[in-house]
Amino acid sequence: MLNFTLIFMPSWYLIIKFLISRNKLFKLHPLNYWFAFILVLDLGILFNVFSLKYYSNPSVTPIFVVVTITLMMDFYTGFLSTLAFSFYFSFLLGSPLKSLIALLIIGVTSAYLSKKIYSRVRIFIPFLGATISQILIYLIYYDLDFAAIPTVFVSNLIQMLLLLGTLPYLEYITRVYSDIGLLELGNLNHPLLRKLSLNASGTYYHSLIIANLVESASEAINTNPILLRVGAYFHDIGKSLRPLFFTENQKGNNPHDKINPKLSALILNLHVTKGQELAKKYRLPILIEDLIVQHHGTRIKRFFFHKSMKLNEKFPPEVFKYPGPIPQFKEAAILMIADNIEAITRSMEKIDKKGLEEMADNLIHDLFFEGQLDDCELTLREINEIKDAMVETVLNMNHSRVTYPEIPRELLKEVNKD
Ligand SMILES: [Fe+2]
Ligand SMILES: [Fe+2]
Repeated sequence: MLNFTLIFMPSWYLIIKFLISRNKLFKLHPLNYWFAFILVLDLGILFNVFSLKYYSNPSVTPIFVVVTITLMMDFYTGFLSTLAFSFYFSFLLGSPLKSLIALLIIGVTSAYLSKKIYSRVRIFIPFLGATISQILIYLIYYDLDFAAIPTVFVSNLIQMLLLLGTLPYLEYITRVYSDIGLLELGNLNHPLLRKLSLNASGTYYHSLIIANLVESASEAINTNPILLRVGAYFHDIGKSLRPLFFTENQKGNNPHDKINPKLSALILNLHVTKGQELAKKYRLPILIEDLIVQHHGTRIKRFFFHKSMKLNEKFPPEVFKYPGPIPQFKEAAILMIADNIEAITRSMEKIDKKGLEEMADNLIHDLFFEGQLDDCELTLREINEIKDAMVETVLNMNHSRVTYPEIPRELLKEVNKD
């Protein structure tokens, strides 16, 4: 049986490779995503091959493979893993078509119920769904085989426990994180975030504001709000190394006044490159590393380019560009827009809807014509929705407080006596 597994495994990978080839995340990070996919599929297949050998047919269940892959990637990839798993085991279980349909029903049910799971406790939902559908299939399909019920329940339970135990390690090894793993990283107790709050409190505050902006925009156009919120916390993590070179951390003195604009531009680049190094060192999710390197794209640091021109230095504009690349997926572009909108609001004396909308329009116009939004696949309608959501959030965060009327102290004393 093990030989069968080893011989047929490569052909299944070719079929899946063809089906997955349209997934953008597999194109962006083939190594991480393929490694995660194959590792989980292999673990699941081996586990089920052994349970089939030493136990019985009803112990075979795709639940570990399907739920893990749906949590780490998405429903579509979870569905493809069901397909691979079901085709493979349908031959091993005998009566291929019957087994294939049975396994597909269980797999698709578990993948569907694993969408939008944000806490470990809720993993019981796909477990329950898969177990009930599997029991029903065995009762209806296999002539009321009641003896299969305890086997189905126990094997599903064992695989769910396997999932709960291995998920954090799979995420750490592959750097492909589920929403559960992302939320654990984003609890603000991560050593990098604690270091940021101590060394660069201005940047820390800036990151918290951006987290609100990206989350509202993400919900407006249906991208991943958790990836964006956590990505916003970490996006400027590189600033914790030289915090005083960034305006939000300066209290009066600006060290850039004493150095050449070209050197200033190089120091600003360091917050991106050092941020990337820290992301690798702490094994942050690969997509958060992307958000760190792509949030400035290849934009020119206008202030220092202008300063250099005034000094007649004649450096080409490339010297003042961020290393990039430009945003490669929707979430990265949303973070870029939010980062700039936050900077705009800081420079505004009075924040009102009309002024803010005008500034946001100009910003998006600039980003568009600089080609920064070329690879992110956002549509013009989505860009407008992002802008509206961010403007709304900024206005909500800056709404003016009601001025309370003064009440004489004596009167308050009288009231409190009673
Ligand atoms: Fe930045
Ligand atoms: Fe930033």
